[in-house]
Amino acid sequence: MNLVPPAAKPAPSALFMSPQRRPLVDRAEGIHVWTRDGRRFIDAASGPIAVNLGYGNKAVLDAMDAQMRRTPFAYRLHFENEAAEELAHAIVREMPPSLNRVYFVSGGSESVEGCIKLARQWAVATGQPRRWKVIGRMPSYHGGTFGSLAVTGDGLLTDTFEVQLMRMPTVPAPVVWRDRDNLTAEQRGVRYAEMLEAKIEAEGPDEVLAFIMEPVGGAATAALTAPDSYYATVREICDRHGILLIHDEVMSGAGRTGRFLGGDHWNCRPDIVSLSKGIGSGYMPLGAVVATSRIVDPVMAQGGFQHGHTYAGNPLACAAGLAVLSEMRRMDLVSRAAEMGALLEAELRGLAARFPFIADVRGKGLLLGAEMVADPATLAPIAAQPGATQRLLDHAYRRGLIIYGRRTKGGAIGDNFMVCPPLIVTREQIDEIVGILGDSLAALAAELDLPVAA
Ligand SMILES: Cc1ncc(COP(=O)(O)O)c(C=O)c1O
Repeated sequence: MNLVPPAAKPAPSALFMSPQRRPLVDRAEGIHVWTRDGRRFIDAASGPIAVNLGYGNKAVLDAMDAQMRRTPFAYRLHFENEAAEELAHAIVREMPPSLNRVYFVSGGSESVEGCIKLARQWAVATGQPRRWKVIGRMPSYHGGTFGSLAVTGDGLLTDTFEVQLMRMPTVPAPVVWRDRDNLTAEQRGVRYAEMLEAKIEAEGPDEVLAFIMEPVGGAATAALTAPDSYYATVREICDRHGILLIHDEVMSGAGRTGRFLGGDHWNCRPDIVSLSKGIGSGYMPLGAVVATSRIVDPVMAQGGFQHGHTYAGNPLACAAGLAVLSEMRRMDLVSRAAEMGALLEAELRGLAARFPFIADVRGKGLLLGAEMVADPATLAPIAAQPGATQRLLDHAYRRGLIIYGRRTKGGAIGDNFMVCPPLIVTREQIDEIVGILGDSLAALAAELDLPVAA
């Protein structure tokens, strides 16, 4: 008889989703997630800034249940479905009037791919087959598939795949808060837009198809916005050269910034918009390409959009999205994002006063980010190791708070973090989030010897 128990083996995992093991999730409700080992987390990142409506919304679950019982699936080339049709109308109702045509996909990268392919098909259909280049910004993030990576500006994510990409040109993102010159913010906005024009001229104006940008930045720039002049000048430049303007609103859309689209803060008139995250709100994988008739009509006249995925426009995802939008309207969550965002932003500015290594706080509504530096006077970055962003995320996670963040370009551009709770967040919950974040920042300052106000 063998009395010696076998040596404990690490739990095997067939998954390779992340090198770091994480606790098993049990359930989620509102802004909270509970794990099987009994811990409670405040999700102040809304997953990857997706769960705008919060977890466990009963109306959405009921709508999904009803749709599942009718049919969870119907293939778009065999059948039309009511949920997709109604969701398209519900989205169009929220958009600027000219953006009135919708094509559904199942996520953000898929929607960016769709925007680029639709733009290219429009060029071919309108007798401009030489146009193919899509100019992006550095830094930026547009997704993990090859087409979306090709317009993404973040070497950490693209370097390995560079040889396989059809790399697209980039222009600097308007990181004006770092500029040290005598220009006003509005003059700087124009200067960054003019960099786009210079790039168009260098690339050959008749070969440039589109410019893609996040009107309010996502993880690559931690909610970067530009001066007002930038948005208007970019549109003028695109018009002057017959180039399409694509807004990637995967993160900033669906009410997150206090307007339905991030670009609505500047009355932008993009030709094509990508949506995802917030319209499915974590209930189902869902994304959309939204475009003007000027773009879609010539494509449809030539036989239709050459794009599609098995699950595109499936009734279950669309029923979930429809219920999400209807709940957002019922609770007036877009206004709430503006109101709670102003409150949270003020609190983050309070933390920046306590922790002067937070050199900038920015964003709109509940799409808020902050940037950390080693020296607020010179804006010198924090040493690459052990990685301030990841350490801050870890300190917060250990305290039951989930925030978001990424070190862009190895920290050369920024050690960012983002605080973006679901739009249903309450004042009391914001106080709790800020309290835990303050403790986490204090732990980070002690660990990395960063400056703290006396
Ligand atoms: C602006 C932006 N575009 C595209 C994507 C890609 O979306 P997905 O991860 O759903 O493919 C993201 C994801 O974070 C994003 O923030």
